[in-house]
Amino acid sequence: MNDLSAPRPNNLDAFWMPYTDNKHFKANPRMLYRAEGMSYFTPEGREVLDGTAGLWCCNAGHGRREITEAIQKQAALMDFAPTFNMGHPIAFEAAARVAEMTPDGMDRVFFTNSGSESADTALKIALAYHKARGQSSRVRLIGRERGYHGVGFGGMSVGGIGANRKQFSALLPYVDHLPHTHQPAKNAFTRGQPEHGAELADVLESLVALHGAETIAAVMVEPVAGSTGVLVPPKGYLERLRAICDKHGILLIYDEVITGFGRLGTNFGAERLGVVPDIMTMAKGLTNAAVPMGAVAVREGVYDAIVNGMPGGIELFHGYTYSGHPLASAAAIATLELHRSEDLPGRARAIEPYWQEAVHSLRGLPNVIDTRDIGLIGAVELSPREGKPTERALAIFRRCFDTGVLVRVTGDIVALSPPLIIEKHHVDRLINTLGDAITAEAA
Ligand SMILES: Cc1ncc(COP(=O)(O)O)c(C=O)c1O
Repeated sequence: MNDLSAPRPNNLDAFWMPYTDNKHFKANPRMLYRAEGMSYFTPEGREVLDGTAGLWCCNAGHGRREITEAIQKQAALMDFAPTFNMGHPIAFEAAARVAEMTPDGMDRVFFTNSGSESADTALKIALAYHKARGQSSRVRLIGRERGYHGVGFGGMSVGGIGANRKQFSALLPYVDHLPHTHQPAKNAFTRGQPEHGAELADVLESLVALHGAETIAAVMVEPVAGSTGVLVPPKGYLERLRAICDKHGILLIYDEVITGFGRLGTNFGAERLGVVPDIMTMAKGLTNAAVPMGAVAVREGVYDAIVNGMPGGIELFHGYTYSGHPLASAAAIATLELHRSEDLPGRARAIEPYWQEAVHSLRGLPNVIDTRDIGLIGAVELSPREGKPTERALAIFRRCFDTGVLVRVTGDIVALSPPLIIEKHHVDRLINTLGDAITAEAA
């Protein structure tokens, strides 16, 4: 049934779309108009099951009345107020709610507006921390190949995606990278954390030997790398990274932008994976993406070194006009209340075994060279078409969309990250539709 109230833009030229093949899209647009629960709806009224929680964000499902009403109420009460030398109650409440969910001792929260801003904020805090402690030579930042930390200059430089870096040439100096942990030859079709690869963390010792510990400020990794195709950390890997960081006085930063807020069946990836960082970034699920917001949580010692280390005046010369924006704070409080009252991490944990079975049931379909999962994340890696990398996965993505399911592709990997309110019948539909598309694109 056509939804006649849906707008129909007849000129797609003005909007330069992010991370999009603009020419292709504008010749073949795919529009979403409305969202509710587990589904999107197109302007024509066609339902599309959301297998990606938008972009790893809408963990509580779409159109949650509690969040919408909190935003509406706040917009009517006070649209905006600055947080530079001023305060409004709900920004403090939002920060306290976040601190209740972060690992013990990581109770200081800095607000941003996105994952990218959170990444750059975390890196700046790490530099400021060492400087405050009289170790100004610690300026080197270590990332990891295939890491994604958004698109700011810090996150882009520390990130490890060639395409994201090469186009811009001018990157941060003093950056190095660990190898990624993807070893399909050893770990294909693993359920949960792979057995092989903990020793890849030891490359950090080599980087210390190369550069000198006294030059290294921080190591930043995603607990589970999402954007480059769901790379689950090998057993023991994060433990070794933590131990080497401790040995050399290096801060460990987790980018929890997708692993936060229930995605792994726990509040944060740190809890599920049993290794706690010094600084963690978050965004996306923080507000269920209803209003953009990001945050950085730090250990007490990091906060103390910077804030108590300064003689007086502003302690950290960093912040955004919209840090702790009232509408975002209202959305965050309502979202985190839903997490608590509906135990969304618990829901994710409860359905994880069914999810895992379903994801791995795709093994054996044509061209499937790996299936992997952790929490409510799944991935299917495909062998590329001869001489045409990414084409097969893109064709599968389009076929899924046309048959009513939204998945995400990166290279020749299909990534799945549904809202945490998913039920078994949704899992069946998602996986069956994807399986049919994989079979249809066998050639
Ligand atoms: C791990 C990680 N960090 C940072 C970002 C960037 O977030 P944003 O697009 O909100 O800037 C993303 C986005 O997908 C992400 O997955």
